[in-house]
Amino acid sequence: MFALVKFLFSNMKGLRRLVVLAMVLTVLQVSSDILGAFPLKFIPSKVQNAGNDPACLFPFLNPIESWFDIPQIDHDLQPEPNLAPSLPPEAQCPFDANDPNGKIVTVQHSPIGVIVFSLILLVLFGLLSALLAFTVLYLAANIGQQLTARLRNQLFDHLQRLSLDWHGKQQKGDLVQRVTGNITGQVAHVATEDINALTLIKVFTREEREAMRFGGYVDRDKRARLRAGWLQAQFTPLVTLLVILGTTAVIGVGGYVASGNDFALGSLVIAADSIDTGTLILFLTFLKLLYQPMRDLSKLATLASTASSGAERIQEVFDQAPELKDSPIPGPYGGPQRLRGEITFENVVMGYLPGTPVLQGINLHVSPGKKIGLVGLSGGGKTTLVKLIPRFYPIWRGSIKIDGVDSRLYPLDVLRNNISMVLQDSVLFEGTIRENLAFGRPMAGMEEIVAAAKKA
Ligand SMILES: Nc1ncnc2c1ncn2[C@@H]1O[C@H](COP(=O)(O)OP(=O)(O)OP(=O)(O)O)[C@@H](O)[C@H]1O
Ligand SMILES: [Mg+2]
Repeated sequence: MFALVKFLFSNMKGLRRLVVLAMVLTVLQVSSDILGAFPLKFIPSKVQNAGNDPACLFPFLNPIESWFDIPQIDHDLQPEPNLAPSLPPEAQCPFDANDPNGKIVTVQHSPIGVIVFSLILLVLFGLLSALLAFTVLYLAANIGQQLTARLRNQLFDHLQRLSLDWHGKQQKGDLVQRVTGNITGQVAHVATEDINALTLIKVFTREEREAMRFGGYVDRDKRARLRAGWLQAQFTPLVTLLVILGTTAVIGVGGYVASGNDFALGSLVIAADSIDTGTLILFLTFLKLLYQPMRDLSKLATLASTASSGAERIQEVFDQAPELKDSPIPGPYGGPQRLRGEITFENVVMGYLPGTPVLQGINLHVSPGKKIGLVGLSGGGKTTLVKLIPRFYPIWRGSIKIDGVDSRLYPLDVLRNNISMVLQDSVLFEGTIRENLAFGRPMAGMEEIVAAAKKA
């Protein structure tokens, strides 16, 4: 769990402000829900005992409540149209006789006025909560999708920079799974394609172009998911609104009836006093049960454990050191971009598995422009020897010089830009044959493409 938090934090650069905003809004939403619950207490208390008024708990509500002490809301305040309206009767706030500092406080508010006032509060806080929930959910979906897209691109980019030596020891399906997570479709397809053709990508130094192509698919996938997140963000506040409307109806009608009035709606008649405070609170408890926050918590726990293992698997790949792109000599590369192609192997020893060398003490000199043929048994190491020239694998001993300079002193880009390779097993990427032929040089003209195809 701690590893998950650390992983998320370190990969959230640029999104942290959004995360903080979402947290603040969540706190506001919870506060709004808590404040919105107070009207649920105001009404039953006032109804049961006219002295138990909201202003007893919160004196600042006194002047606001007075706005509702009007005959238009409570007809009892003006029983005769010709008479001047009267004030609600005075009542005493609940008073604890054991409190030495307790003093007697009285209030003067109409119970029906308090009910109307409370209902308005209820609706206002309900609306506020719905609006905040919408914002928080949408933010969360947004942050999630941005983070997913970013991790996928970073992981993919990192995979391309890991050496073939490392890739040779991995299972392709497992790598694809790490990059794509549980998504299907084009993203998975392109990732499989690229990971399988990694040798080719490296031969032609097309890492950046492939990363961009992959990024395009990730982006499309992200947008589709954002739309889904938008729909989901609307759904939950809708439920909240329904709950608030239900609460408003239950407590409005219930309070009206419990305070001694008959309620009639068409043929439906609820007799005065058939509902008391206890019934009201019961109904409200039922409504609150709709939320079932405990169920959400258990869902969150499962989610967190899945996420932790996913984060671990991704971090494992990130922890692998990428192939060294630059020469070990510090400072910018000042040597030639174009190499003549004089190749010298001096006592080269190399193998794939520790203890079993494939090449043992190879000495070879190839002058620029020379065509040579390597002949040998299958598995003799011909392909291996060729793959050492673009530094796909580290050599164990000896040295390989290009134009008289150790190949390890060239930046990888320079070295590989000077080498063309036709591999034994060919790979076709998605797209036209022409695009495939132009893989190593996307800007190539038609003649160049035809010439290259003839040479191959
Ligand atoms: N990625 C790898 N991981 C481990 N061992 C490998 C790897 N690639 C090749 N080998 C082993 O290295 C040896 C030399 O293989 P290589 O492909 O260089 O031979 P080759 O001369 O090109 O053969 P062929 O004529 O069949 O193409 C073989 O024993 C092969 O099994
Ligand atoms: Mg071979």
